[in-house]
Amino acid sequence: MNDMTPPKAERAAALKGLGSARKRVEDARFTQGKGNYVDDLKLPGMLFGDFVRSPYAHARIKSINADKAKAMPGVVAVLTAADLAPLKLHWMPTLAGDVQMVLADGKVLFQGQEVAFVVAQDRYIAADAIELIEVDYEELPVVVDPFKAQAPDAPVLREDLECKTEGAHGPRRHHNHIFTWEQGDKEATEAVLGSADVVAEEMVYYHRTHPCPLETCGCVASMDAVNGKLTVHGTFQAPHAVRTVASLISGIAEHNIRIISPDIGGGFGNKVGVYPGYICAIVASIVTGVPVKWVEDRMDNLMATAFARDYWMQGRISATRDGKITGLWCHVTADHGAFDACADPTKFPAGFFNICTGSYDIPVAYLAVDGVYTNKAPGGVAYRCSFRVTEAAYFIERMIEVLAIKLGMDAAELRTKNFIRKDQFPYHSALGWEYDSGDYHTAWDKALNAVGYDSLRKEQAQRLDDFKAGRTRKLIGIGLAHFTEIVGAGPVKNCDILGLGMFDSCEIRIHPTGSAIARLGTISQGQGHATTFAQILASEIGIPADDITIEEGDTDTAPYGLGTYGSRSTPVAGAATAMAGRKIRAKAQMIAAYLLEVHDDDVEWDVDRFAVKGAPERFKTMKELAFAAYNQAIPGLEPGLEAVSYYDPPNMTYPFGAYICVMEVDVDTGEHEIRQFYALDDCGTRINPMIIEGQVHGGATEGYAIAMGQEIAYDEIGNVKNATLMDFFLPTAWETPHYTTDHTVTPSPHHPIGAKGVGESPNVGSVPAFSNAVHDAFRPFGLVHSHMPHDHWRIWRIARDLGLHG
Ligand code: CDP
Repeated sequence: MNDMTPPKAERAAALKGLGSARKRVEDARFTQGKGNYVDDLKLPGMLFGDFVRSPYAHARIKSINADKAKAMPGVVAVLTAADLAPLKLHWMPTLAGDVQMVLADGKVLFQGQEVAFVVAQDRYIAADAIELIEVDYEELPVVVDPFKAQAPDAPVLREDLECKTEGAHGPRRHHNHIFTWEQGDKEATEAVLGSADVVAEEMVYYHRTHPCPLETCGCVASMDAVNGKLTVHGTFQAPHAVRTVASLISGIAEHNIRIISPDIGGGFGNKVGVYPGYICAIVASIVTGVPVKWVEDRMDNLMATAFARDYWMQGRISATRDGKITGLWCHVTADHGAFDACADPTKFPAGFFNICTGSYDIPVAYLAVDGVYTNKAPGGVAYRCSFRVTEAAYFIERMIEVLAIKLGMDAAELRTKNFIRKDQFPYHSALGWEYDSGDYHTAWDKALNAVGYDSLRKEQAQRLDDFKAGRTRKLIGIGLAHFTEIVGAGPVKNCDILGLGMFDSCEIRIHPTGSAIARLGTISQGQGHATTFAQILASEIGIPADDITIEEGDTDTAPYGLGTYGSRSTPVAGAATAMAGRKIRAKAQMIAAYLLEVHDDDVEWDVDRFAVKGAPERFKTMKELAFAAYNQAIPGLEPGLEAVSYYDPPNMTYPFGAYICVMEVDVDTGEHEIRQFYALDDCGTRINPMIIEGQVHGGATEGYAIAMGQEIAYDEIGNVKNATLMDFFLPTAWETPHYTTDHTVTPSPHHPIGAKGVGESPNVGSVPAFSNAVHDAFRPFGLVHSHMPHDHWRIWRIARDLGLHG
């Protein structure tokens, strides 16, 4: 190496590669108001669409009269199911193998359902015209309770399916039943539970909530009749899948459809599905010949687009008297609303809920899930969790607490006793998963030490004495949670959506001057992909992250991928990025050897260059090699420096974490104060610690909202009670707790850089930690379980029911 060469560490730091807390490159435009969201798009001649929505949860439509609306100046068209029927677009397929009305066809099945689509010259005219459309409804009996929906005399909701005894996931045993999904060994589990020393039983409800991204869903459809090309800008978390589905539904050849996801203001699962607004905007653009924009307002978003959770989880868990868990049994009643539009891989109608054995070595388990129709909005998305994993984590972490009560044992000790040990990985769970890697005991001990668990318990006991002696009205709850996530869907052999295997992709082009562009099949919605994927590449190919552009979300330019949700970007597209980078490096090695006049094997990689083995002063930097690739063709080797990788992961990744919440609860007001929230995450190799911390803060805040107040609730006749941000709890900086983040690093053995996902983990882990803290505060008074959300009123009610109000 010559004297001018900076040392290895200095050169590595200049790359801002793996492990660097590189600042988010996206933020320069976001903080200066230069983001480009769907609603920022203004195309010449653009029209605006808006929906007439049903005020009823279940009603027959006797007639629709749009004459007055059509006569209103500025109204261009009104679409109803009758207009879409000749095109066979009045119904559409859902991601779960069901069908869903695009516009109400004879009846409505939930409040807020789309009935007619008004297209007008501006949004205000559209909104006024909606008021002029007369819909004659005949109210029908409403079912919002999934248990009542299964009664023999329950009203038939889906008349289109009334005679169908087979659904997309097997037999249906009732007119409102969708599927039964079973996993594990029923007989063996029941035998173990039948003869166990101790069995704890509980019904754990994870209430209905909503991802509620800052930006609602929307699109601008633009049909170019001359060139036959349809372009749709939209808030899509999976643009390529949308293109394929749009082609299949519309009959427009796929190469003539361009889907563009511009900047997206949060997705959290809400923007995975296909909504009637997209179909109506496309049809309206085809009909009118000009672009048509549809953007939801907040109430539309909360009432009608994909909800999350709504799982009733009946559990039984058995153990020996000294606390060794012997078996787990679970039955879920899953409320899917009016149409089964859950966003899950095809073979998993309840997503990856069978991760419900959690972080524990449970020898035998059985799970059955029954999906049920009710008069509620369809959806069932994985609000910031990998397919139904947050429900699973909540279930097992509540069951552990309930078991600890039954055993009279400390819940931290019960967990320690039952964790899967480090030497058991790869671990085969009783419900069918192969956990790739983990070190739960190390993480757990680190977490307990960090919060000073033993002294916290002493303080809690002292507080209890003070409470009983009348010296305070506040109790302390210590909420424990250890979660195991399953992210990175997924191996194509197991996971597909509508038949599309869930691989992902990256295509890299190195420019002659040594900078690069990489395009991926994923799409960031705030996660910072432009920052972190460039870091992966920087470490792989020795070009500074600052010299690499990351581009996503345009199907005309990006390689095919299945999109971003369920923390799959890092495990799948991140792996594709590393693999494509390695292809670039392999070619660069040949060019370096040629230029240095040695054999390929005689050069070695050194941060940002190839050097001759044993003669480090003879080297070629990646910058030099990039230029050489374009002008010094090696005989027999094509010029240029480009690579593409389509990556089918061999397994999912299993991030995990230990979260602890210390909460003070005021018995008289039901108010709470989060005194401390400690979040330890293990997501394997960490790409950008600062971005990880941001992901944890955001996810934990969403978890806080869900646990402590956020819900979509319905009254008996199907009215949505929380369809505005006045009623739907979205924490501001005022309510958001302070978080302490921490980590351990247990790399994934199969991921090229050992990384696991992280974006979903904090939502999965924090909800049980918050909820367990509430329960723990009241444990000494006999509370075993109480349903979320734990808003002030519900906490006050717990205290009242336990007789603590004197
Ligand atoms: O699929 P999604 O982007 O929502 O989730 P993710 O793969 O968990 O990544 C969220 C963000 O955290 C991305 O910017 C990742 O690159 C970053 N990340 C990281 O820095 N290190 C990890 N081990 C995992 C994710």
